[in-house]
Amino acid sequence: MKTANQDIKPISRKINEQGNIEIGGCDLVDLANEYGTPLYVFDEATIRSITNSYKDAFKEYQNMRMMFASKAFMTKAICKIMEQEGFGLDLCSGGEIYTAHSAGFDMSKTMFNGNNKTYEELSMAIEYGIGTISVDNFFELALLNSIAESNNKNIRILLRITPGIECHTHEYIQTGHLDSKFGFDLTQIDEAIELIKEEYKNLELIGLHAHIGSQIFEKQVYFDEVSVLFKEMRRIKDTHGIELTEVNLGGGLGIKYTQNDKPISVYEIAQTIIDAIKLNTKKYELKEPFVFIEPGRSIVGTAGVTIYTAGSSKQVPDGRRYQAVDGGMSDNARPSLYQAEYTVEVANKPNETETEKITIAGKHCESGDILAKDITLPIIEEGDVICFYNTGAYGYSMSSNYNRVLKAAAVLVNNGKSDIIINRQTYEQLCESDVIPDRLN
Ligand code: LLP
Repeated sequence: MKTANQDIKPISRKINEQGNIEIGGCDLVDLANEYGTPLYVFDEATIRSITNSYKDAFKEYQNMRMMFASKAFMTKAICKIMEQEGFGLDLCSGGEIYTAHSAGFDMSKTMFNGNNKTYEELSMAIEYGIGTISVDNFFELALLNSIAESNNKNIRILLRITPGIECHTHEYIQTGHLDSKFGFDLTQIDEAIELIKEEYKNLELIGLHAHIGSQIFEKQVYFDEVSVLFKEMRRIKDTHGIELTEVNLGGGLGIKYTQNDKPISVYEIAQTIIDAIKLNTKKYELKEPFVFIEPGRSIVGTAGVTIYTAGSSKQVPDGRRYQAVDGGMSDNARPSLYQAEYTVEVANKPNETETEKITIAGKHCESGDILAKDITLPIIEEGDVICFYNTGAYGYSMSSNYNRVLKAAAVLVNNGKSDIIINRQTYEQLCESDVIPDRLN
């Protein structure tokens, strides 16, 4: 069965009677007028369709929890949606922990991971009652144990391991291969377990965690990942007499940014994982573990679009035509950081047949601030509303104030209703943290 991550556009996207694009029953041109641009628009129906696909696809394996990897898009409203959908949260910083806690999220359903968690972040995680901590390295084992000890708490931990699996994605977003900054190498696991057994009495080792990368299109790597983890669990049982009961397989399922992307469905990945678990449980004579998965991009990526207003344009004599928009690398860093490609439409003229080759440029003082290179679009005029699909994941979450450009607003749309979920930043907020020392006055 096809799932929403396999389409470029949100499931509710249509062309309405005015000939404009609408999402969640809301005309994108009206949204641009009401809220201003750049604006992130999130289709609630697409988010819920994907979370439901995950639940349905894994229903055969009940002994598990889906966790939304909040690094993809973290706001209080998304915490509420995930709570309603029965998802937990994968958190990777003090800011994400704070946001989940402020949204009233059940912190027992959260996990904290990251390769350099600080004393303050770990203390906050413990104070707020985080469910599990995925420990990344020896330094953190010692630090976490000392914090847990002084708080008189026992902490449930997973060990993050690098399973040595290479997947075909952009080099910057590969995480599970051996030369990676994340996690314990398999050869370091025994030493970590000895330390936990002998010295770190406030840590309770319950399982293993791995994440093999992001924007993955292959099933086989998940099969391999499960096999590596289960083999390791068996080895740990034989060597240390510890039967681990939980395993976290990370996230990574890809989405369709352009026609060239061919992501697999949530059902395919679920079946692969379930088959691999069943097979390896038998093979290594283990009990079926409690399984976590933590998808981010595939949950919110397709649901989100960004709309911009077309401004100035430039025709290079005998060269490219550039059309500038009122945002750029500050609201979407992915094109300049990963050469990411997007599908683009003009929201007020999606059906126009007369087209031109155009490069969409951002407004930042940097030549590399290009959002889409040499694409074909209807002839753009100043004031047109330009829609970039698939910006829901790692768009807002990687946004910045470069050039002191304000952070954009985000709305959630559904059944003809739009609600602000992130207010547009104001100039006052922009300067809020600035301090002029007295001696400069
Ligand atoms: N779990 C862990 C431990 C992770 O590090 C990540 C993503 C995820 C889960 C979620 O992976 P997803 O399902 O979203 O692929 N900024 C990059 C993506 C970086 C992903 C980092 N880790 C981008 O814009 O493509």
